[in-house]
Amino acid sequence: MKLKNTKELILDAQKNGYAVPAFNIHNLETIQAVLETCEQLKSPVILAATPSTVDYANKEYLIAIVQEAMEKVTIPLAFHLDHFENVKEIKSTVAKGCRSVMIDASKHPFEENIAIVKDVVEFAHACGATVEAELGKLGGQEDNIKVNEKDAFFTDPSEAVDFVKRTGIDTLAVAIGTAHGLYKKEPKLDFERLDKIRQVIDIPLVLHGASGVPFKAVQQAIKLGICKVNIATELKIPFSSAIKDYFNKHPDASDPRKYLVPAKEAMAKVVEEKVKMCKSAQRG
Ligand code: 13P
Repeated sequence: MKLKNTKELILDAQKNGYAVPAFNIHNLETIQAVLETCEQLKSPVILAATPSTVDYANKEYLIAIVQEAMEKVTIPLAFHLDHFENVKEIKSTVAKGCRSVMIDASKHPFEENIAIVKDVVEFAHACGATVEAELGKLGGQEDNIKVNEKDAFFTDPSEAVDFVKRTGIDTLAVAIGTAHGLYKKEPKLDFERLDKIRQVIDIPLVLHGASGVPFKAVQQAIKLGICKVNIATELKIPFSSAIKDYFNKHPDASDPRKYLVPAKEAMAKVVEEKVKMCKSAQRG
C-alpha cells in the first residue's frame, strides 16, 4: 500500500480544532505501541522518524513496516521524516515512497533557509509529498541537532508570512517557547506570538518539543492554530525505565519477547494521555 502524505490528516485537524499527534518511533516495538493505542482510541497519527532512527532501523524496513501496518489499522496513518537536514537524503527517501517530510534548515540565515526549503518543496510536491519547515529556532536537543538556550529564538510573524509565501510549504513549525528534550523548569509558551502568527498565516502550524509541556498549555496552543504536536522524549523514558525495572526484577532475563512487553505497555500509556491532550481520539 502506498504511504500517505500528512496533508489530509492535518487539514482535518485544522478544520475541527484538534491536533494530530506525531510520535517519534524507533523500531518495530515502538511503532506497535503507538499504533495499537491509536487504533484503540481511533486517533489519526503520524509516525515520525529522525535521521538517527532511519540510520538505526533502515528506511526500507521502516517504510515496509508502516505499509504493512496500513493494511491492518483503520485509522489515518502517515510516516514522516522529522528534522532532516540533508536534502539529498530527503529526496531519495521521497523517491522510495515517503510522502511527508520536514526539512530543517532553521540553523541557516533566513534567505538560505528559504532557498533550501523551496528546493525540497518543488521536488516533494511533484511526488505528492507534504513538506514541513521551521522558522525560528527551538532550544534543546533533538537527534544530533543541539541548540543552546542562548541561540534559540522565536518565530517572527512577519518573517513567517514571507517564508510561507516564498517556500510553498504545507505546514510551519513555530518556535514559541518550547524546546526539545526535558525542561529544567515549566516552559512558558508565547501565546500572543502564536495568535499573531495564526492571524497572518493560514497553513497549519506545528508544535515541536511537546514533552513536558502541561496539557493545558498544549490545548491552548491547539486553540490558537497548532494542528500537529510532536512528542519524542516523554515516550522514550518510560519505555527505557520499564526495561530497567524488568531487569532489576529478573536479572537473568534474556528474552526480548518478554522484557519488551512492559516497555511497550509503558509507552502505550503515555501515547493514550497525549492523544487525549491533542483531542484527536475518535477522529480517525
Ligand atoms: P520532545 O522530545 O521534546 O518531545 O520533542 C519532540 C519533537 O519535537 C520531535 O520533532
